Amino acid sequence: MRKFSARFNRLGTETAFAVGADAAAWEAKGHTVYPFHLGDINLPTPQHIVDGAMAAIKAGKTGYAPGPGIMPLRDALAEDVGKARGIEYTAENVSVQPGGKPVISKFLGVILSEGESVLYPNPGYPIYESQIEFLGGKALPYGYIPTVDGFAMNREEIEKQLTDKTVAIIYNNYQNPIGAESTDEEMQWVADLALKHDLWVLSDEAYFDIRYSGKGKSIASLPGMAERTVVLYTFSKKFAMTGWRLGGAIGPKELIAGISKFNTNYESCSNHFIQHAGVVALNGPDNPQQAIVRELERRRDALTAALQEIDGVRVTKPNTTFYLFPDITEIYHRKGYTRSADFRTDALEKTGVSFCSREHFGRPLPGEEKVFVRFAYSGIEVDQIEEGLARLKDFWEA
Ligand SMILES: Cc1ncc(COP(=O)(O)O)c(C=O)c1O
Repeated sequence: MRKFSARFNRLGTETAFAVGADAAAWEAKGHTVYPFHLGDINLPTPQHIVDGAMAAIKAGKTGYAPGPGIMPLRDALAEDVGKARGIEYTAENVSVQPGGKPVISKFLGVILSEGESVLYPNPGYPIYESQIEFLGGKALPYGYIPTVDGFAMNREEIEKQLTDKTVAIIYNNYQNPIGAESTDEEMQWVADLALKHDLWVLSDEAYFDIRYSGKGKSIASLPGMAERTVVLYTFSKKFAMTGWRLGGAIGPKELIAGISKFNTNYESCSNHFIQHAGVVALNGPDNPQQAIVRELERRRDALTAALQEIDGVRVTKPNTTFYLFPDITEIYHRKGYTRSADFRTDALEKTGVSFCSREHFGRPLPGEEKVFVRFAYSGIEVDQIEEGLARLKDFWEA
């Protein structure tokens, strides 16, 4: 067989899917599994959105739709995303997507030339690095530093790597996997950096609406930033619609037109009747969405409390996302581990608790000494959280 392309060989993936496979194999052997590895939500999509999709199918919304999306959805997104961020967007600022994820590759496809570089968070969503390298760019990872109540971006690492070939920074406030949230000062620092060095910004706002108090804030709202920022928007988390595949890119018109050109090349359009369901979601009542957030909050509180009870775990309680990123360095060394994969699979096999390791979110950076793991609580209920964590406590403290 002839070889595959060099470009293809640079494509990464989400290695966390392998954790799901391990958990499923363990469960198939008859064991109980406590799934903390999933970034999926086990709550149903609100009924009025389901009804909206059914009605659209019955009304014959089953043919192709315009590449950039149907007008009512582009209008609704411009209004909704703009209002929450204090920005005047119109339909021309919106390109509908089959999920939030495609925004990453299409944004980079428009702005990144071979040999240029992009700053991205690591630990972070693994598709950033995969797509930067696939497109022939240089991926410049930046990490986070633990603070008393969370994590802060490693500014030194960002400044050290930035060159005149750097064209963009990927900024994931409300961060997966660590739940980090910028202070106003940190967000302004990122904006100043982008303005000073003339960088595009991809603001991944997948968790903008998954907040337990206060209002979300977008870097696109800061002076001079809407013109250089593409917001990654998704229905996945906010409306418990991960499998529906609906999202959008919202940003400067020319860049958005470029992103829509990729729509035409890749999938022609996002699913037609699901776009109508998206309009129903955005225009509908927000109590079902609030109910999703309240349930996630109960799980967050239960999981944080249970982790804090374990000797050797250090964890803070983020106000956003559905992830916790505990520092388990002390347990790791106390129990004599040298490979994080062993730490993870031992926990699975001794307790049934399944979680991801730091390595599932990018290659560790030089100088990282602490060991972290990621717990997602979007796919597991409170009683299961408590049961699983009691087992984990016994095992880790033994
Ligand atoms: C940080 C981040 N960005 C983007 C996405 C993509 O979400 P989706 O494609 O399901 O809308 C996810 C999904 O887990 C994510 O965690």
